[in-house]
Amino acid sequence: MRAIDCATFSLKRVALMGTLVASLLGCARQAEPVFVMSDDLKALSETQQRQIKEVLTKFFGNPINPRLVIPEGEDMDALVDVIDPDRVKHGAAVFNRRCVGCHGITGDGNGEAAPYLQPKPRDYRNGIFKFTSTPYGAKPNRADLTRVVRRGAKGTSMPAFPFLPDEDVRDVVDYVILLSYRGELERSVAQIAQLDYDPDEELDSFEFTDAISRIHDTWQQAEYQGVLPVTAQPKYSDETILAGRKAFLSRGCSKCHGEDARGQTIWLNREFIAEQEAKPEAEREKINYDAWGQPAPAADLTAGMLHGGRRPIDVYRRIYTGINGTPMPAFNQALAAEPETIWHLVHYALSVVEDRHVEGLDEITAPVVSDQSGDPESEN
Ligand code: HEC
Ligand code: HEC
Repeated sequence: MRAIDCATFSLKRVALMGTLVASLLGCARQAEPVFVMSDDLKALSETQQRQIKEVLTKFFGNPINPRLVIPEGEDMDALVDVIDPDRVKHGAAVFNRRCVGCHGITGDGNGEAAPYLQPKPRDYRNGIFKFTSTPYGAKPNRADLTRVVRRGAKGTSMPAFPFLPDEDVRDVVDYVILLSYRGELERSVAQIAQLDYDPDEELDSFEFTDAISRIHDTWQQAEYQGVLPVTAQPKYSDETILAGRKAFLSRGCSKCHGEDARGQTIWLNREFIAEQEAKPEAEREKINYDAWGQPAPAADLTAGMLHGGRRPIDVYRRIYTGINGTPMPAFNQALAAEPETIWHLVHYALSVVEDRHVEGLDEITAPVVSDQSGDPESEN
């Protein structure tokens, strides 16, 4: 019916009004939404593209009727710990209504609003998520994804959805995970095709089942890998903040975040990046990029908005396990011998976020690094 209405409108050629009314009726979206091909897939021969698309559709369905079909012979009993196939259809409905404008039909972060947003909406397809409670490099668990949907990411366009019914949040999380599985599978088999197969050769079916069980394992493990603080949190006080300030200057945080915690050190500064990107490639200074190909400036803590949440435990996790896909490193190893320092850093970071005045803070200075030996090894 819709298609006919739309056709009539265009026949009448009441151009502006027609388009307006047509889009009100939903005609602007007359085409069924489809998953878009990744660049990795586009680079392959038609034979391989067709095969991979077919398998992806078999496993995951389409954006209106998504499904999760477990490949034959794969034992994935524990699958439901991560994703429940019965919930993905409702999850897709929620996603296509509330999230698609930013994250895109395919979860590639390319929704209609994406060109105007900074930082960019997350592309789920490489399976990397930032605000996790799991070790560096691991997948998030369901609680992490649920938290980000409920609370949003302050200081970015990722909204909080505090009033969405529990089932909607639960099911949209299933669907986000499905999109991530799908994206990672697509990418990984496309890479295998490129590396191990002749362009016109079809992939053996085990390539798909192997890849999906590898991806599945990482998600499943994450459900049991939540990181708890090594020591209990001390009382938030001027003493812990001062100790944190000291560590901030001596443990390398200020190298990226700057001594003033503004994240303005030259090699990660946003304006600097813009300036550099305007220059021809050969004349550019080194810029750090994140796993999504975007410039990745260190956070400005004085802006008062922590993307990953401002509960002490949130900040603890960012420091302890780092932020996946960005230059923010994990400090669990470096601070293993002095675990309480992590809490001090948390308290210092929070004091900056809250703009809390602490007597004596300005007197703490960065340690003097002697560079006389000329042998960097001896400075540890
Ligand atoms: C107005 C745009 C917008 C909308 C609408 C939106 N998001 Fe986001 N989302 C973002 C941005 C931007 C980020 C990246 C934040 C960052 O990198 O710090 C993000 C990040 C995420 C992440 C990744 C978190 C992580 O740990 O890396 C998830 C998951 C997510 N969004 C899920 C959703 C879901 C589910 C919905 C709908 C219920 C939704 N988003 C709606 C903009 C949006
Ligand atoms: C190599 C550079 C680098 C170093 C060293 C570094 N950071 Fe970061 N940090 C970053 C980047 C980049 C981000 C932004 C990540 C993102 O895109 O969300 C960040 C983000 C953060 C955030 C904000 C998280 C949020 O929720 O928005 C905190 C807090 C933080 N860093 C604290 C520290 C502390 C404390 C140290 C030292 C123990 C430290 N950083 C060392 C690069 C660095």
